[in-house]
Amino acid sequence: MQIDIFSLFPGMFVGPFADSIIKRAITAGLVSIAVHNIRDWAAGRHRQCDDTPYGGGGGMVMKPEPIFAAVEEVLEMQPGAPPPCPVILMTPQGRLLTQKVACELATHQRLALICGHYEGVDERVREHLATDEISIGDYVLSGGELAAMVLVDALVRLLPGALGDAEAPAKDSHAGGLLEHPHYTRPATFRGWSVPDVLLKGDHAQVARWRREMALLRTLQRRPDMLVDTLLTEEDEIFLDKLSNKYEY
Ligand code: 6GU
Repeated sequence: MQIDIFSLFPGMFVGPFADSIIKRAITAGLVSIAVHNIRDWAAGRHRQCDDTPYGGGGGMVMKPEPIFAAVEEVLEMQPGAPPPCPVILMTPQGRLLTQKVACELATHQRLALICGHYEGVDERVREHLATDEISIGDYVLSGGELAAMVLVDALVRLLPGALGDAEAPAKDSHAGGLLEHPHYTRPATFRGWSVPDVLLKGDHAQVARWRREMALLRTLQRRPDMLVDTLLTEEDEIFLDKLSNKYEY
């Protein structure tokens, strides 16, 4: 997968992409990430990329010309032709990033991410250059850069071979519509707090059943809204019925 990121602050990306899973995925050739400085495509001695809003009011708006020029050159687009891959504008007004959206975006060979800053980008970028808009949550960040990093992390760990455990993405919280079960490692007793017995006994069927039930319990307690869209077995339903008799939600 190839990811082209367009930003006024390329330096922000250095740290997060230089460690852990993303670094490993880059080294392994699973993903290639290029961060482009929009300012390199700005005209004039001052290479101005923002300007005051038409109609007045405070704040600055990112100018359309450098963004169009940057994306069209990097993606080798003929003027007016559609882009060769999704062009995603990072904006709090976009569709919400969920695990489902991440899975869908991870299927593309190439993605371009545009990071807005200041009060936002000129509306013509949204209308005539972007093909998608993504938000990472209902709060406002000072720019799209951190959101783009979150999106890249969510995508890269889904690429086959990016994680040590090939099945890990399928087991993640949210992947199967449930929050994940609790995890324990050694020691079996820490400060008097013990690991649940079932995990120590080596009965794999029992362990699987316990994990499923803990995932159901956690989801019911913390995110009952998620259960509406989750595929549940008859065994799951019986367990949940027992729980709702025991607790009140
Ligand atoms: Cl993508 N950008 C900004 N500036 N704020 C956000 C966001 C994006 N997603 C949530 N808040």
